[in-house]
Amino acid sequence: MSIEKSRRDFLGLAFGSVAAIGGVLALGAMKSTWEPIPSVMAAGYTTVDLSTITPGEFRTVVWRGKPIFILRKDHTKFKKCKNRDTKVGKEDFLVVVGLCTHLGCIPAWEPKKNMFHCACHGGEYNDCGVNIYGPPPRPFDIPPYKITGTKMVLGEDGAQFKKLVSKNPTNIYKG
Ligand code: FES
Repeated sequence: MSIEKSRRDFLGLAFGSVAAIGGVLALGAMKSTWEPIPSVMAAGYTTVDLSTITPGEFRTVVWRGKPIFILRKDHTKFKKCKNRDTKVGKEDFLVVVGLCTHLGCIPAWEPKKNMFHCACHGGEYNDCGVNIYGPPPRPFDIPPYKITGTKMVLGEDGAQFKKLVSKNPTNIYKG
């Protein structure tokens, strides 16, 4: 073998190795840009301490930019909604996506009437979140959530969520 040929072989091998290492490093860098940064991953979840909501209180929280209506039932005033309420200890809560199922407006809670009213086209929902008047075609959708103790994490599929959507298959929030 000539000195010139071994020199060429050596240079080819050296360049090949550098290119392969560079490729692996570039892939690693690209992978880290594909993965969401921790703050983005955390943005998919909203945690609510349900024990801070008093009986009869209505509260709106934001999850993934959407309003989530939470109503802590006070059964001297509100209906029990067998397949719509979420049980937390002895308390019942209505937890729904606060967007009208007609065209997506945000209905208002009317505490004196115990119902939601959508100003866009006059749709109404009762305190079970079920449409009772006007153009809304179905009850409010149910967001995915998981209950642990009195903490609710919106964005996770917990046992109560799975049970409720099995009874209300047309009300699974699709995002
Ligand atoms: S968007 Fe609510 S009734 Fe039309």
